[in-house]
Amino acid sequence: MDWLHWFDRWEAMQCAYLPQRQHRFDLMFRLPDFPRDAELHILDLGCGPGSVTFCALRHYPNARIVAVDADPVLLAMGRSVKSANQQSVQSVDFVLADLRDGEWWAEYVGVFDLVVSATALHWLTEPHLAEVYRRVYRALKPGGWFFNADHVAADDPAMQARYRDLLHEWQQANFDAGAEDWDGFWRGFEVALAQAGVPPQREAITYWEGSDDGLPRQFHLDTLRACGFEDVAVHWQDLGEALIGARKSQRIKRT
Ligand SMILES: C[S@@+](CC[C@H](N)C(=O)[O-])C[C@H]1O[C@@H](n2cnc3c(N)ncnc32)[C@H](O)[C@@H]1O
Repeated sequence: MDWLHWFDRWEAMQCAYLPQRQHRFDLMFRLPDFPRDAELHILDLGCGPGSVTFCALRHYPNARIVAVDADPVLLAMGRSVKSANQQSVQSVDFVLADLRDGEWWAEYVGVFDLVVSATALHWLTEPHLAEVYRRVYRALKPGGWFFNADHVAADDPAMQARYRDLLHEWQQANFDAGAEDWDGFWRGFEVALAQAGVPPQREAITYWEGSDDGLPRQFHLDTLRACGFEDVAVHWQDLGEALIGARKSQRIKRT
């Protein structure tokens, strides 16, 4: 199985949907301004095949990363890409878990310098996302950062409808120019998996509960502040796509 080929196809397919995808990823690692040789502990939520994780290692080669997803096949791709790139076996731990599972989160209290996520948290319902934000806050060290690059809806539904139309126009131009779409990618990938005899560990995805538009921008900002985050800000936005950042206070609050 040529996993590197499929990883490249995944990247190209995602870029056809997401304006400035790589730029958003780079911002997640450049905005906090950690020293390049820092031994950061990073958590990547909904990592898929590790696109953000591998970007993290390019910025911080000494980072240790927990990359979590509920899709075993995408995790298998990530593990294979890691081996092919000969990245230290120690540096990335691809973990199969559901972000809605509180037990999985329980061991992570005050341990991460940076929590990141791309194009994943819009799969969650509003209550689940609010819970994930609370868990991210708990999992961070004081002073740690959280960055989420995702679909973020306009607060006004009429404007969101306009955002959606304009984004679809841009995406359609990419597909007309020959880019592969989500369904096309999965059809081809599943054929390749079957031909390579890779067991189809992947049942039909049952955990999609979200919204293609994402939740309104104000919901994200308010919910992050309610969790206790400081410096909550939108650092980049293009129509209904945004990079939101937030920081856990350096000070331990006394109650
Ligand atoms: C569009 S992919 C993005 C993957 C990767 N972050 C990227 O930017 O290429 C969304 C990912 O979120 C994962 N995901 C969605 N809901 C999840 C959940 N409840 N628990 C764990 N992973 C989830 C999916 O399995 C999928 O791999």
